Amino acid sequence: MNELDSLVESAQQLFAQAVTPADLENAKAQFLGKSGRVTELMKGMAQLSVEEKKSRGAAINVAKQAIEAALTARRQALADAELQTQLKAEALDVSLPGRRRGQGGLHPVSLTLERIEGIFASMGFDVADGPEIESDWFNFTALNTPEDHPARSMHDTFYVEGGTETAPNLLRTHTSPMQVRYAVQHVKKYQALLDAGQSMPEIRVIAPGRTYRVDSDATHSPMFHQCEGIWIGENVSFKDLKVVFTDFCRTFFESDDLVLRFRPSFFPFTEPSAEIDIQFQTGPLAGKWLEVAGSGQVHPNVVRNMGLDPEKYIGFAFGMGPDRLTMLRYGVNDLRLFFDGDIRFLSQFQ
Ligand code: PHE
Repeated sequence: MNELDSLVESAQQLFAQAVTPADLENAKAQFLGKSGRVTELMKGMAQLSVEEKKSRGAAINVAKQAIEAALTARRQALADAELQTQLKAEALDVSLPGRRRGQGGLHPVSLTLERIEGIFASMGFDVADGPEIESDWFNFTALNTPEDHPARSMHDTFYVEGGTETAPNLLRTHTSPMQVRYAVQHVKKYQALLDAGQSMPEIRVIAPGRTYRVDSDATHSPMFHQCEGIWIGENVSFKDLKVVFTDFCRTFFESDDLVLRFRPSFFPFTEPSAEIDIQFQTGPLAGKWLEVAGSGQVHPNVVRNMGLDPEKYIGFAFGMGPDRLTMLRYGVNDLRLFFDGDIRFLSQFQ
Protein backbone atom coordinates (compact mmCIF):
# COMPACT_ATOMS: atom_id res chain seq x y z
CA MET A 1 0.00 0.00 0.00
CA ASN A 2 1.49 3.35 -0.94
CA GLU A 3 2.00 6.23 1.44
CA LEU A 4 -1.11 8.16 0.31
CA ASP A 5 -3.42 5.16 0.64
CA SER A 6 -2.27 4.54 4.17
CA LEU A 7 -2.73 8.25 4.96
CA VAL A 8 -6.36 8.01 3.80
CA GLU A 9 -6.82 4.83 5.81
CA SER A 10 -5.47 6.35 9.02
CA ALA A 11 -7.75 9.38 8.55
CA GLN A 12 -10.74 7.07 8.11
CA GLN A 13 -9.78 5.18 11.26
CA LEU A 14 -9.35 8.32 13.34
CA PHE A 15 -12.63 9.76 12.10
CA ALA A 16 -14.40 6.52 12.95
CA GLN A 17 -13.08 6.73 16.51
CA ALA A 18 -14.48 10.23 17.03
CA VAL A 19 -17.61 10.06 19.18
CA THR A 20 -18.40 13.75 19.46
CA PRO A 21 -18.33 16.53 16.83
CA ALA A 22 -15.41 18.09 18.78
CA ASP A 23 -13.37 14.84 18.53
CA LEU A 24 -14.06 14.83 14.84
CA GLU A 25 -12.92 18.43 14.29
CA ASN A 26 -9.68 17.69 16.17
CA ALA A 27 -9.06 14.66 13.98
CA LYS A 28 -9.78 16.72 10.88
CA ALA A 29 -7.13 19.27 11.91
CA GLN A 30 -4.48 16.55 11.97
CA PHE A 31 -5.00 15.99 8.23
CA LEU A 32 -6.50 19.07 6.67
CA GLY A 33 -5.43 21.78 9.16
CA LYS A 34 -2.74 24.44 8.51
CA SER A 35 0.02 22.07 9.56
CA GLY A 36 -1.97 18.91 8.90
CA ARG A 37 -0.45 15.99 7.09
CA VAL A 38 -2.06 16.69 3.70
CA THR A 39 -0.98 20.32 3.88
CA GLU A 40 2.58 19.25 4.71
CA LEU A 41 2.62 16.94 1.65
CA MET A 42 1.59 19.87 -0.55
CA LYS A 43 4.35 22.03 0.88
CA GLY A 44 6.82 19.17 0.24
CA MET A 45 6.25 19.48 -3.53
CA ALA A 46 8.19 22.72 -3.75
CA GLN A 47 11.43 21.08 -4.91
CA LEU A 48 9.80 18.83 -7.52
CA SER A 49 9.99 19.42 -11.26
CA VAL A 50 6.93 20.64 -13.13
CA GLU A 51 6.19 17.15 -14.49
CA GLU A 52 6.54 15.55 -11.07
CA LYS A 53 4.38 18.28 -9.51
CA LYS A 54 1.58 17.44 -11.91
CA SER A 55 1.36 13.76 -11.11
CA ARG A 56 2.20 14.11 -7.42
CA GLY A 57 -0.30 16.95 -7.04
CA ALA A 58 -3.04 14.94 -8.68
CA ALA A 59 -2.35 11.96 -6.41
CA ILE A 60 -2.39 14.14 -3.28
CA ASN A 61 -5.68 15.69 -4.42
CA VAL A 62 -7.28 12.28 -4.82
CA ALA A 63 -6.18 11.41 -1.27
CA LYS A 64 -7.42 14.77 0.04
CA GLN A 65 -10.82 14.25 -1.54
CA ALA A 66 -11.06 10.79 -0.03
CA ILE A 67 -10.26 12.24 3.41
CA GLU A 68 -12.84 15.00 2.95
CA ALA A 69 -15.45 12.46 1.90
CA ALA A 70 -14.71 10.37 5.00
CA LEU A 71 -15.04 13.52 7.14
CA THR A 72 -18.41 14.46 5.64
CA ALA A 73 -19.71 10.93 6.05
CA ARG A 74 -18.66 10.83 9.70
CA ARG A 75 -20.15 14.25 10.42
CA GLN A 76 -23.46 13.07 9.02
CA ALA A 77 -23.27 9.84 11.02
CA LEU A 78 -22.63 11.74 14.26
CA ALA A 79 -25.52 14.15 13.53
CA ASP A 80 -27.85 11.22 12.80
CA ALA A 81 -26.81 9.50 16.03
CA GLU A 82 -27.43 12.71 17.97
CA LEU A 83 -30.90 13.03 16.47
CA GLN A 84 -31.70 9.42 17.31
CA THR A 85 -30.72 9.89 20.95
CA GLN A 86 -32.82 13.01 21.15
CA LEU A 87 -35.83 11.31 19.60
CA LYS A 88 -35.46 8.44 22.01
CA ALA A 89 -35.29 10.79 24.98
CA GLU A 90 -38.37 12.66 23.88
CA ALA A 91 -40.31 9.62 22.80
CA LEU A 92 -44.00 9.44 23.71
CA ASP A 93 -45.45 6.22 24.92
CA VAL A 94 -48.66 6.33 22.92
CA SER A 95 -49.88 3.18 24.67
CA LEU A 96 -50.13 4.99 28.06
CA PRO A 97 -53.73 5.67 29.11
CA GLY A 98 -54.64 9.33 28.63
CA ARG A 99 -55.04 11.85 31.42
CA ARG A 100 -58.56 13.25 31.37
CA ARG A 101 -59.12 16.92 31.74
CA GLY A 102 -61.40 17.47 34.77
CA GLN A 103 -64.72 18.96 33.83
CA GLY A 104 -65.49 22.22 35.61
CA GLY A 105 -68.89 23.43 36.67
CA LEU A 106 -70.69 26.28 38.34
CA HIS A 107 -70.57 26.80 42.08
CA PRO A 108 -73.90 25.93 43.78
CA VAL A 109 -74.39 29.56 44.81
CA SER A 110 -73.76 30.65 41.20
CA LEU A 111 -76.39 28.13 40.11
CA THR A 112 -78.80 29.76 42.56
CA LEU A 113 -77.95 33.27 41.32
CA GLU A 114 -78.57 32.20 37.73
CA ARG A 115 -81.85 30.71 38.79
CA ILE A 116 -82.90 33.88 40.63
CA GLU A 117 -81.93 36.05 37.67
CA GLY A 118 -83.86 33.85 35.26
CA ILE A 119 -87.04 33.94 37.35
CA PHE A 120 -86.99 37.70 37.92
CA ALA A 121 -86.07 38.39 34.30
CA SER A 122 -89.20 36.47 33.32
CA MET A 123 -91.17 38.91 35.51
CA GLY A 124 -89.70 41.89 33.70
CA PHE A 125 -86.87 42.75 36.12
CA ASP A 126 -83.55 44.10 34.92
CA VAL A 127 -80.38 42.57 36.45
CA ALA A 128 -77.77 45.05 37.70
CA ASP A 129 -74.29 44.74 39.12
CA GLY A 130 -72.75 47.10 41.71
CA PRO A 131 -69.41 47.70 43.44
CA GLU A 132 -68.44 45.61 46.48
CA ILE A 133 -66.27 48.47 47.71
CA GLU A 134 -68.85 51.10 48.46
CA SER A 135 -69.14 54.53 50.05
CA ASP A 136 -70.97 54.99 53.33
CA TRP A 137 -73.25 57.40 51.47
CA PHE A 138 -74.76 54.62 49.36
CA ASN A 139 -74.38 51.87 51.97
CA PHE A 140 -76.00 53.85 54.81
CA THR A 141 -76.73 57.56 54.52
CA ALA A 142 -78.70 57.47 51.26
CA LEU A 143 -80.66 54.60 52.81
CA ASN A 144 -81.95 56.78 55.63
CA THR A 145 -79.27 55.52 58.03
CA PRO A 146 -77.35 58.63 59.19
CA GLU A 147 -73.94 58.42 60.81
CA ASP A 148 -75.14 58.06 64.40
CA HIS A 149 -77.93 55.59 63.61
CA PRO A 150 -77.81 52.45 65.83
CA ALA A 151 -78.60 50.22 62.82
CA ARG A 152 -75.06 50.87 61.57
CA SER A 153 -73.59 48.85 64.42
CA MET A 154 -75.42 45.73 63.22
CA HIS A 155 -73.60 46.13 59.92
CA ASP A 156 -70.01 46.03 61.14
CA THR A 157 -67.57 45.87 58.25
CA PHE A 158 -64.14 46.95 57.02
CA TYR A 159 -63.75 50.73 56.79
CA VAL A 160 -61.16 53.25 55.72
CA GLU A 161 -61.32 57.03 56.16
CA GLY A 162 -63.34 59.14 53.74
CA GLY A 163 -66.47 58.03 51.99
CA THR A 164 -68.25 60.53 49.82
CA GLU A 165 -70.73 59.76 47.09
CA THR A 166 -67.80 59.08 44.76
CA ALA A 167 -65.10 57.91 47.20
CA PRO A 168 -65.67 54.34 48.40
CA ASN A 169 -64.56 53.60 51.96
CA LEU A 170 -66.09 50.31 53.08
CA LEU A 171 -66.98 46.77 52.05
CA ARG A 172 -70.71 46.92 51.43
CA THR A 173 -72.74 45.21 54.15
CA HIS A 174 -75.75 44.55 51.93
CA THR A 175 -76.86 44.95 48.31
CA SER A 176 -79.29 47.74 49.27
CA PRO A 177 -76.88 50.49 48.10
CA MET A 178 -77.92 49.34 44.63
CA GLN A 179 -81.42 50.71 45.27
CA VAL A 180 -80.24 54.31 45.13
CA ARG A 181 -77.34 53.69 42.72
CA TYR A 182 -79.58 52.12 40.12
CA ALA A 183 -82.51 54.49 40.65
CA VAL A 184 -80.33 57.58 40.24
CA GLN A 185 -79.10 56.30 36.85
CA HIS A 186 -82.63 55.44 35.82
CA VAL A 187 -83.94 58.87 36.82
CA LYS A 188 -81.08 60.56 34.94
CA LYS A 189 -82.03 58.63 31.82
CA TYR A 190 -85.64 59.84 31.98
CA GLN A 191 -85.02 63.30 33.48
CA ALA A 192 -86.43 65.02 30.38
CA LEU A 193 -89.73 63.18 30.78
CA LEU A 194 -89.89 64.04 34.47
CA ASP A 195 -89.05 67.69 33.80
CA ALA A 196 -91.93 67.77 31.30
CA GLY A 197 -94.25 66.51 34.02
CA GLN A 198 -94.63 63.12 32.34
CA SER A 199 -94.25 59.63 33.81
CA MET A 200 -91.06 57.65 33.56
CA PRO A 201 -90.96 53.86 33.02
CA GLU A 202 -91.04 51.95 36.31
CA ILE A 203 -87.85 50.95 38.09
CA ARG A 204 -87.79 47.18 38.28
CA VAL A 205 -84.43 45.56 38.98
CA ILE A 206 -82.62 42.92 40.97
CA ALA A 207 -78.97 43.28 42.01
CA PRO A 208 -77.23 40.11 43.17
CA GLY A 209 -73.69 40.11 44.54
CA ARG A 210 -71.21 39.65 47.35
CA THR A 211 -71.58 41.43 50.68
CA TYR A 212 -69.47 41.57 53.85
CA ARG A 213 -69.95 41.66 57.62
CA VAL A 214 -68.00 40.73 60.73
CA ASP A 215 -69.79 37.43 61.29
CA SER A 216 -68.61 33.84 61.21
CA ASP A 217 -70.38 30.63 62.27
CA ALA A 218 -72.29 27.72 60.71
CA THR A 219 -74.91 30.03 59.25
CA HIS A 220 -72.88 33.25 58.81
CA SER A 221 -69.80 33.88 56.70
CA PRO A 222 -67.84 37.19 56.65
CA MET A 223 -68.41 37.14 52.89
CA PHE A 224 -71.88 36.16 51.78
CA HIS A 225 -74.32 36.84 48.98
CA GLN A 226 -77.41 38.94 48.79
CA CYS A 227 -79.83 39.74 46.05
CA GLU A 228 -81.59 43.06 46.18
CA GLY A 229 -84.88 43.68 44.43
CA ILE A 230 -86.69 46.92 43.89
CA TRP A 231 -89.84 47.98 42.10
CA ILE A 232 -90.79 51.66 42.04
CA GLY A 233 -93.64 53.19 40.12
CA GLU A 234 -96.65 55.41 40.55
CA ASN A 235 -98.88 52.69 41.85
CA VAL A 236 -96.82 49.83 43.24
CA SER A 237 -97.99 48.42 46.54
CA PHE A 238 -97.19 45.86 49.21
CA LYS A 239 -99.67 43.60 47.45
CA ASP A 240 -97.35 43.54 44.42
CA LEU A 241 -94.46 42.57 46.69
CA LYS A 242 -96.48 39.67 48.04
CA VAL A 243 -97.42 38.45 44.57
CA VAL A 244 -93.93 38.80 43.14
CA PHE A 245 -92.14 37.19 46.07
CA THR A 246 -94.63 34.36 46.45
CA ASP A 247 -94.38 33.62 42.75
CA PHE A 248 -90.61 33.74 42.95
CA CYS A 249 -90.41 31.30 45.90
CA ARG A 250 -92.77 28.79 44.35
CA THR A 251 -90.87 28.86 41.07
CA PHE A 252 -87.48 28.72 42.77
CA PHE A 253 -88.35 25.71 44.91
CA GLU A 254 -90.57 24.16 42.21
CA SER A 255 -93.35 23.74 44.75
CA ASP A 256 -96.81 25.20 45.22
CA ASP A 257 -96.83 23.55 48.65
CA LEU A 258 -95.19 26.58 50.13
CA VAL A 259 -96.65 29.43 52.17
CA LEU A 260 -95.18 32.84 52.94
CA ARG A 261 -95.42 34.99 56.06
CA PHE A 262 -94.63 38.70 56.19
CA ARG A 263 -93.47 39.30 59.74
CA PRO A 264 -93.34 42.96 60.90
CA SER A 265 -89.77 44.16 61.28
CA PHE A 266 -87.61 47.26 61.05
CA PHE A 267 -85.19 48.59 58.45
CA PRO A 268 -84.27 52.29 58.30
CA PHE A 269 -84.85 52.38 54.53
CA THR A 270 -88.31 50.80 54.41
CA GLU A 271 -91.56 51.68 56.14
CA PRO A 272 -93.42 49.49 56.85
CA SER A 273 -90.87 46.66 56.91
CA ALA A 274 -91.23 42.89 57.03
CA GLU A 275 -89.12 39.79 57.24
CA ILE A 276 -90.26 37.22 54.72
CA ASP A 277 -90.49 33.67 56.10
CA ILE A 278 -91.41 30.61 54.07
CA GLN A 279 -92.85 27.30 55.19
CA PHE A 280 -92.86 24.07 53.18
CA GLN A 281 -96.01 22.00 53.67
CA THR A 282 -94.34 18.73 52.67
CA GLY A 283 -90.83 17.28 52.60
CA PRO A 284 -88.05 17.19 55.20
CA LEU A 285 -88.44 20.87 56.21
CA ALA A 286 -92.24 20.78 56.48
CA GLY A 287 -93.79 22.96 59.20
CA LYS A 288 -90.74 25.11 59.99
CA TRP A 289 -90.74 28.86 59.34
CA LEU A 290 -87.56 29.79 57.49
CA GLU A 291 -86.44 33.39 57.11
CA VAL A 292 -85.36 34.13 53.53
CA ALA A 293 -85.51 37.91 53.04
CA GLY A 294 -85.99 41.38 54.48
CA SER A 295 -88.43 43.67 52.71
CA GLY A 296 -90.63 46.70 52.89
CA GLN A 297 -92.11 49.73 51.25
CA VAL A 298 -89.29 52.06 50.24
CA HIS A 299 -88.99 54.93 52.75
CA PRO A 300 -89.91 58.42 51.42
CA ASN A 301 -86.42 59.71 52.33
CA VAL A 302 -84.88 57.03 50.14
CA VAL A 303 -87.25 57.83 47.28
CA ARG A 304 -86.15 61.45 47.64
CA ASN A 305 -82.46 60.40 47.47
CA MET A 306 -83.28 58.64 44.20
CA GLY A 307 -84.28 62.04 42.83
CA LEU A 308 -87.98 61.26 42.85
CA ASP A 309 -91.00 62.83 44.51
CA PRO A 310 -92.22 60.46 47.28
CA GLU A 311 -95.71 61.92 46.87
CA LYS A 312 -95.77 60.49 43.36
CA TYR A 313 -93.44 57.49 43.38
CA ILE A 314 -93.81 54.53 45.69
CA GLY A 315 -92.68 50.93 45.69
CA PHE A 316 -91.06 48.08 47.54
CA ALA A 317 -87.66 46.58 48.04
CA PHE A 318 -86.45 43.26 49.29
CA GLY A 319 -83.10 41.71 50.06
CA MET A 320 -82.73 37.96 50.11
CA GLY A 321 -79.92 35.57 50.92
CA PRO A 322 -78.97 33.35 47.97
CA ASP A 323 -76.64 31.31 50.22
CA ARG A 324 -79.58 30.47 52.47
CA LEU A 325 -81.75 29.60 49.47
CA THR A 326 -79.00 27.29 48.19
CA MET A 327 -78.79 25.54 51.57
CA LEU A 328 -82.56 25.03 51.61
CA ARG A 329 -82.75 23.86 48.01
CA TYR A 330 -79.98 21.28 48.36
CA GLY A 331 -80.34 20.40 52.04
CA VAL A 332 -76.91 21.71 53.10
CA ASN A 333 -76.62 22.46 56.83
CA ASP A 334 -73.33 24.34 57.08
CA LEU A 335 -72.84 27.55 55.11
CA ARG A 336 -69.04 27.34 55.41
CA LEU A 337 -68.97 24.32 53.10
CA PHE A 338 -69.78 26.65 50.20
CA PHE A 339 -66.65 28.73 50.72
CA ASP A 340 -64.07 26.12 51.80
CA GLY A 341 -63.40 25.20 48.18
CA ASP A 342 -63.46 21.44 48.79
CA ILE A 343 -63.90 19.90 45.37
CA ARG A 344 -65.49 16.73 46.82
CA PHE A 345 -68.33 18.86 48.16
CA LEU A 346 -68.64 21.19 45.18
CA SER A 347 -68.59 18.49 42.50
CA GLN A 348 -71.83 17.05 43.89
CA PHE A 349 -73.74 19.95 42.37
CA GLN A 350 -72.67 19.27 38.79
N1 PHE B 1 -80.56 45.14 53.36
C1 PHE B 1 -81.31 44.45 54.35
C2 PHE B 1 -80.37 43.53 55.14
O1 PHE B 1 -79.27 43.32 54.69
C3 PHE B 1 -82.43 43.65 53.74
C4 PHE B 1 -83.49 44.48 53.10
C5 PHE B 1 -83.41 44.85 51.76
C6 PHE B 1 -84.59 44.95 53.84
C7 PHE B 1 -84.40 45.61 51.18
C8 PHE B 1 -85.55 45.69 53.27
C9 PHE B 1 -85.49 46.04 51.94
O2 PHE B 1 -80.69 43.02 56.16
